[in-house]
Amino acid sequence: MTHTINVNVNGVAHEAQVEPRVLLVHFLRDDLRLTGTHIGCDTSQCGACTVLVDGISSKSCTMFAVQADGREVTTIEGLAKNGELHPLQEAFREEHGLQCGFCTPGVILSVYDFLQHNSKPNEEEIRHALEGNYCRCTGYHNIVKAVQKAAE
Ligand code: FES
Ligand code: FES
Repeated sequence: MTHTINVNVNGVAHEAQVEPRVLLVHFLRDDLRLTGTHIGCDTSQCGACTVLVDGISSKSCTMFAVQADGREVTTIEGLAKNGELHPLQEAFREEHGLQCGFCTPGVILSVYDFLQHNSKPNEEEIRHALEGNYCRCTGYHNIVKAVQKAAE
């Protein structure tokens, strides 16, 4: 049995038929082909799948697609505008906040939400905000610098 959902993703309205068991991350990646949202674990810990749901950072592997019905979702593909990187993306590039880039979409969307509520965070607050996102490459140091730069 499928359900009809209406989801606005990156400013585009989508009506889709989904089975109730389908996770939001699979809907985004497999149905909409928005593969910037990654899957890094099966335990809701790594944060690679983080997107914004109604502006709030959410792990899309812990939501069913049907729970996104009537809501707005932003993925990493929705941040750059008119060919210009979002300032957060630019800061990650400038501060070498990514290596393999696998964690980067989720980190950036977590930080996006965080900076909405704390526009001038200190280092400790940034590290605390990153606790839900695992990075296996960078050691976090450059990620923290990137967030500090974006907050300037
Ligand atoms: S894939 Fe969602 S938290 Fe790891
Ligand atoms: S940049 Fe490779 S996992 Fe974070």
